[in-house]
Amino acid sequence: MSKKKIAVFASGNGSNFEAIVKACVEGTVDAEVVLCVTDRPGAYVTERAARAGVPMVEFRPKDYPSKRDFELMLMHHLEEKEVDLICLAGYMRIIGETLLEAYPGRILNIHPSLLPAFRGADAVGQALAYGVKVYGVTVHYVDATLDGGKIIAQAAISYEGNDRDDLEAMIHAREHILYPEAINRVLPTI
Ligand code: GRF
Repeated sequence: MSKKKIAVFASGNGSNFEAIVKACVEGTVDAEVVLCVTDRPGAYVTERAARAGVPMVEFRPKDYPSKRDFELMLMHHLEEKEVDLICLAGYMRIIGETLLEAYPGRILNIHPSLLPAFRGADAVGQALAYGVKVYGVTVHYVDATLDGGKIIAQAAISYEGNDRDDLEAMIHAREHILYPEAINRVLPTI
């Protein structure tokens, strides 16, 4: 059977994109990353994609009259590459109904908190401000709610300090392990 095909959507740094590509190349995940999509042309993820030889779609949402229009454009690329699974990895945009209806149960996201705590933007900052002692990472299905879809995998991180850089480094390191694990749980179901 041919490998399942993954598209990764990212808006920024792309370290999770790279971790997913690495897991596929090394065979930890039995799939192939066939597309990198970014809504921020020139974001660092595009350098990572070029280095990894992964085709890219770079677009500016404001060049389209509506979310439906740019999601239809994205669907064209996703269909062309026969994408089975979409992994959001630092994609700073809410997925609209066009993509949600086209890929039911096939869009995942990673969020840097133990959901349902600290949904939305700057989850790490929210958790630090709260003074939590256990942080974490969640991979979940994407639905129409904000960070609200069914949870696939979670990992907890104990941290009692207040150095944001240290904490974020710990969170990222854990994300790079958890996302491939979550993908492995989902692949047999799609
Ligand atoms: C990650 O912390 C992820 O949880 C959040 O955005 C960040 C993306 O990091 N959704 P990177 O671009 O993959 O390095």
